Amino acid sequence: MPDAIYHFPQGFLWGTATAAHQVEGGNTNNNWYAWENAPGRVFQGQKCGLACDWWGGRWKEDLENAARDGQNTHRLSIEWSRIQPRPDQWDDGALEHYRHIIRGAIKLGLKPMLTLHHFTDPLWLYEDGGWENDAAPKYFAEYVRKAVGALHDLVDFWVTINEPDVYVTSGYVGGDFPPGKNDLGAAFKVMRNLLKGHAAAYKIIHEMQPDAQVGYAKNYRGFEAARAWFPPDVWITRFNNASYNDAFSNALVNGTLKFALKKEFVPEAIGTQDFVGINYYTLDKVAFKPFAVKDVFSRRFYPADSEMSETGFIANIPRGMTAALKWAHKFNLPIYITENGVEDSKDTLRPQYTIQHLHEVWRVANFNWNVRGYYHWSQVDNFEWERAWSQRFGLWGLELETQRRIRRPSVDMYADICRQNAISSDMVRKHAPQIFNQLFPS
Ligand code: BGC
Repeated sequence: MPDAIYHFPQGFLWGTATAAHQVEGGNTNNNWYAWENAPGRVFQGQKCGLACDWWGGRWKEDLENAARDGQNTHRLSIEWSRIQPRPDQWDDGALEHYRHIIRGAIKLGLKPMLTLHHFTDPLWLYEDGGWENDAAPKYFAEYVRKAVGALHDLVDFWVTINEPDVYVTSGYVGGDFPPGKNDLGAAFKVMRNLLKGHAAAYKIIHEMQPDAQVGYAKNYRGFEAARAWFPPDVWITRFNNASYNDAFSNALVNGTLKFALKKEFVPEAIGTQDFVGINYYTLDKVAFKPFAVKDVFSRRFYPADSEMSETGFIANIPRGMTAALKWAHKFNLPIYITENGVEDSKDTLRPQYTIQHLHEVWRVANFNWNVRGYYHWSQVDNFEWERAWSQRFGLWGLELETQRRIRRPSVDMYADICRQNAISSDMVRKHAPQIFNQLFPS
């Protein structure tokens, strides 16, 4: 059989994504350090510790691997608490260190996409109410001005805030993230302040760099009615979509934040994204659950018979990627998949999961939808927040005790795709033969 091939658009960006706290190690001045030291908050009391030792210099090995394996971009983040260790103190040495890392990435041929806020807040802000404090957007703006001022000759591709939706629901509704609250009033306030922080960051970046590309990374969760014929399920699914998937992004279009049963007009948010960033992992079925006020009248579960990830965290549902892209397409802006991946220490599902999700990306690129890049989460195993080291999302494994990087089969799978800017039948036969017929029906 001749080799069939699914080509991606010319100039497509191929990369992996990381976040400062998850890879750097030694971040002891932020809310997550406080959280891991509070009893019972992080899986088995595990510590972030040295993480992947990027601060100590091992970013080089990981980015060299990424570049050698055909990637042409990398999404990384900078740590606010390093740059502004106290409200009245800036650390220019930390910024210089970031310049060194970013210069290193560029030298390797990796275009940097830089996230300014990826879940962590400086301890001084955390202790002063975090983003519930109405001064937080102003503090964030000051940090952004400082950081962008120092880095704008190297970076023109920015993510202001990673997953405000996860930050708010995990920290102020579910309670898995600091500060571990369950308080809808606080959740609304934090969402609104993050929105203001984002809008301020967008404006500051564009003042310094009129041509910059600025967006945020949206955690798109797929929601499907459990019983499509049952109006209460359909209604509650719409409600989940509106509050989780639409709230922040719609406010960037019309300035109105509708979230947690509240509404507020934040005019400065209008028109503050140049691209849509999507982090897609999985999808839920949603059923109406009467009396379950705390769960917003919803029961959410994975579709029966789903192929599950190693720790049951993710159901492999590629059609959710298509739903995410469809959702993103309506904003009429360039789209980047800013994260996608699966925890899989044995690498049994990752090759298939990745190829299936990329096949969906390829499909919509063929409708001429403006999808321009893909960042796999992640290059190397890293500290998975409250799940700590129990989940392994890396193309490369990490042996924590020695910092040794372990090459998983997925490294070659992803390298083949990046190098050829395509998924070929040959690749699928080699890396995920079990889905060959699905991808290349005869
Ligand atoms: C976050 C990452 C995290 C990944 C996998 C995303 O929600 O942005 O920081 O590691 O999910 O859990």
